[in-house]
Amino acid sequence: MGWLDGKVALVSGAARGQGRSHAVRLAQEGADIIAFDICKDIPTAITEMGSEEQLAETADMVKALDRRVVTGNADVRNMAEVAAVVDAGVDTFGRLDVVVANAGIASFQPAHVMTEDVWDEVIDINLSGVWKTCRAAIPHMINAGNGGSIVITSSITGLKGFTWQAHYAAAKHGVVGLMRVLAMELAEHNIRVNTVHPTSVLTRMLDNDEIAKLFDPDKESPSLEDATPALRDLHLLPVPWVESRDISAAVAWLSSDEARYVTGITLPVDAGATQK
Ligand SMILES: NC(=O)c1ccc[n+]([C@@H]2O[C@H](COP(=O)([O-])OP(=O)(O)OC[C@H]3O[C@@H](n4cnc5c(N)ncnc54)[C@H](O)[C@@H]3O)[C@@H](O)[C@H]2O)c1
Repeated sequence: MGWLDGKVALVSGAARGQGRSHAVRLAQEGADIIAFDICKDIPTAITEMGSEEQLAETADMVKALDRRVVTGNADVRNMAEVAAVVDAGVDTFGRLDVVVANAGIASFQPAHVMTEDVWDEVIDINLSGVWKTCRAAIPHMINAGNGGSIVITSSITGLKGFTWQAHYAAAKHGVVGLMRVLAMELAEHNIRVNTVHPTSVLTRMLDNDEIAKLFDPDKESPSLEDATPALRDLHLLPVPWVESRDISAAVAWLSSDEARYVTGITLPVDAGATQK
């Protein structure tokens, strides 16, 4: 018996990283999966994006668990693209129970010199893209009448500020407001809405040259290892980062009936970062 037997879950940004981990964990809990990703690069993001090959690998991992999967390429900024994937998934599976709005990008600049394109891309993806994902999914959930759960991936930067992340903090705080309103509006349909707030997670968004430079600016070509002491220093617990599966555990719980009366909360998975 899984927590999500017979249920269907939608995951954005599922080609790699946390999104892949969420898709696999929810499948382990018994859910069929609708997985999508942009699968093309975004100019201002600090890394390349997930690829079609990686999204296909995620799908193979779900199938290896004997669950069904529908995948699609869609940019969360594009309502029609997201709706097409969600509609295709619901056509195939006949229902939608769980939404994990996980897709996001990162970039770093001081606010007073930040360029407009850097600001706009983060707000468009990390804030408006979350709303568009919810907008495409919620009518299907309401129509099915089965209740459900929406989990939005925020960040510890959705609970406190970090320098050079004005746009990211604005978006990640912004999704908390969106979550709170959706929790109110959807409660009568028994649809719960919550945010998760990861600290640094060991994915491509953390393991890249930009982050290493940010946390060890004095070294010429720092690696993630060089940044480890500064990353460790963010936390109460003695770890520099957490793993995707740690966030997936919170997502799976919030998506399940184990959390049936949990709605409107901001759940940190942060090794104590927000208490430091
Ligand atoms: N890694 C961290 O340290 C960390 C910490 C806190 C919060 N987060 C958040 O976790 C979420 C997942 O990030 P991750 O760590 O797995 O990073 P990641 O870069 O490995 O994965 C992000 C995925 O989202 C996809 N994506 C980006 N823009 C998209 C768009 N417009 N439409 C569709 N898909 C898009 C990418 O292609 C990629 O596959 C993000 O919202 C991120 O902001 C990450």
